Amino acid sequence: MLFDSHAHLNDVALIERTEDILANAIENKVEKILCVGFDKDSSLLAVELANQYESIYAAIGIHPSEANQFEIDLDWMKEYLGNPKVVAVGEIGLDYYWDKSKIEEQKQLFQRQMELAGKYHLPVIIHMRDATNDTFEMLREYMDKEASGVMHCYSSSKEAMQQFLDLGMYISLAGPVTFKNARVPKEVAEVVPLEKLLVETDSPYLSPVPYRGKTNEPKNVFYVAQEIARIKKVSFEEIEAATYANTCRLFGIK
Ligand code: NI
Repeated sequence: MLFDSHAHLNDVALIERTEDILANAIENKVEKILCVGFDKDSSLLAVELANQYESIYAAIGIHPSEANQFEIDLDWMKEYLGNPKVVAVGEIGLDYYWDKSKIEEQKQLFQRQMELAGKYHLPVIIHMRDATNDTFEMLREYMDKEASGVMHCYSSSKEAMQQFLDLGMYISLAGPVTFKNARVPKEVAEVVPLEKLLVETDSPYLSPVPYRGKTNEPKNVFYVAQEIARIKKVSFEEIEAATYANTCRLFGIK
């Protein structure tokens, strides 16, 4: 069994096709899917999907690209953080790739959401792009408090990965690990400890080979797991069992 630990079934590209997507997933043995929010509306949709379908779980949160000069309202989150199908706060973090002009606003939004996660004893799902050092510094302070979380679609170096592992974070790999010239994710796959590894699709983005460029969906997490097994020189079943168990452990799913 596989667990797609990060998919946006709440995205406009996928929201009309939930039943088909779940049927396709089951054909590839993808039994569980974590639907991740990126703003208020997508978070509420994730909760709705999770309440409607047994195999879907939800994460709610505001993506760093939403940060702006106004203080974003987070009070609505408190209403859902106690829902048993809401298993994480995410995706949250820092993204300096698209916009470097709102670093302070991003940090503040990230900090406030980490504090909420801590209050509700939920793990955090971290989006980090071109912001490795700042993300690490903020997580280091936060993770002191018996927190847990995952570096989603991890794309930094294997050296930086060790720092995040030392904080207690899990590492999640996605479609890029299957790309022919993706040296860094393949290096990460080789050395990441099996007991800290998650797999994901980040659907509808980042389709793995052989579907690169097409709309991604959770069934394709199979190709991510297959490529990691090849790189690590272990059986597919071993990757499958480890990542499924890790995802359930991190998100408190029985
Ligand atoms: Ni995502």
